[in-house]
Amino acid sequence: MSIKAVVIGSLNMDLTVSVERLPGEGETLLAGSSSELPGGKGGNQAAAIGKLGVATAMIGKVGDDAYGKRLIHSLQQSGVDTSGVMPSAEPTGMAMITIDREGRNHIVVIPGANYDLTCEDIDKQRHLIEQAELVVLQLEIPYETAVYALELAKRLGKRTILNPAPARTLEPEVLANVDLLIPNEHELHTITGIAPVNEQQLLAGAAQLAEQGTQTMVVTLGAAGCAFIQGGSLRMFDATRVHAVDTTAAGDSFIGGYVAEYLETHDEEQAIRYAMKAAAVTVTRHGAQQSLPTRAEVRAFHESDG
Ligand code: RIB
Repeated sequence: MSIKAVVIGSLNMDLTVSVERLPGEGETLLAGSSSELPGGKGGNQAAAIGKLGVATAMIGKVGDDAYGKRLIHSLQQSGVDTSGVMPSAEPTGMAMITIDREGRNHIVVIPGANYDLTCEDIDKQRHLIEQAELVVLQLEIPYETAVYALELAKRLGKRTILNPAPARTLEPEVLANVDLLIPNEHELHTITGIAPVNEQQLLAGAAQLAEQGTQTMVVTLGAAGCAFIQGGSLRMFDATRVHAVDTTAAGDSFIGGYVAEYLETHDEEQAIRYAMKAAAVTVTRHGAQQSLPTRAEVRAFHESDG
């Protein structure tokens, strides 16, 4: 089966602790439970797309250790081609995650092998990018590698999506290679300097990015839904109200849902509606990759939801 989507990014083992509330500065808390589960924004997005039935390949790096093997296995279980996941002499990336009883989290990532992904590694996996219609990136790998991969994907005529997480400023020459930017509100604030607290500010942020080269943006707003902004016009999409237990990978699930539906329909707004549905399922489950739904699960959840 020919690859339709390629995800270039991080693979992390998520070490998660559940607490009543997120700790304050200098505070010690006791955890109710803990887990060690596959994650990483890149791996999660690849798994999300793969689980929704799209032929997907992952490009990234893991260490020669048990975590690396588990992460590759998890992607394969989600139907992802892992031939582009390369070995590194560095240990596999990890993320330390704290979740409160409302499902809110704090995440600190230890990049490890993810920061060993080079431009030469991207060249080695060029055949995967060539096959795909669409390429997805985040920023948990070296910035210069992400910039190079975006430029290569664009040169090869692919549609490019950047999830700018963790957030940083983006140069116009980088934005020019991004067809669709999917930040959350905090990331948009870091990138543009504008806190998107209302529609006017969302439009102002989008206008700034459009001037620099990215014409289309979807800003994820958590329980407030998301905003789709293109050509100076904005459309809000409501989130389905659900009881969230763990918001880890909600954004990754959104991106997976968007990509899977976009590749099927080539309709932006339908893809966004589907992305919202997939993310709604994800936040009702624990963990990152294990919380990502299949198409049948998205359908069943929203049928029972009415
Ligand atoms: O987006 C959620 C992910 O962020 C987690 O799985 C963690 O690994 C960090 O990369």
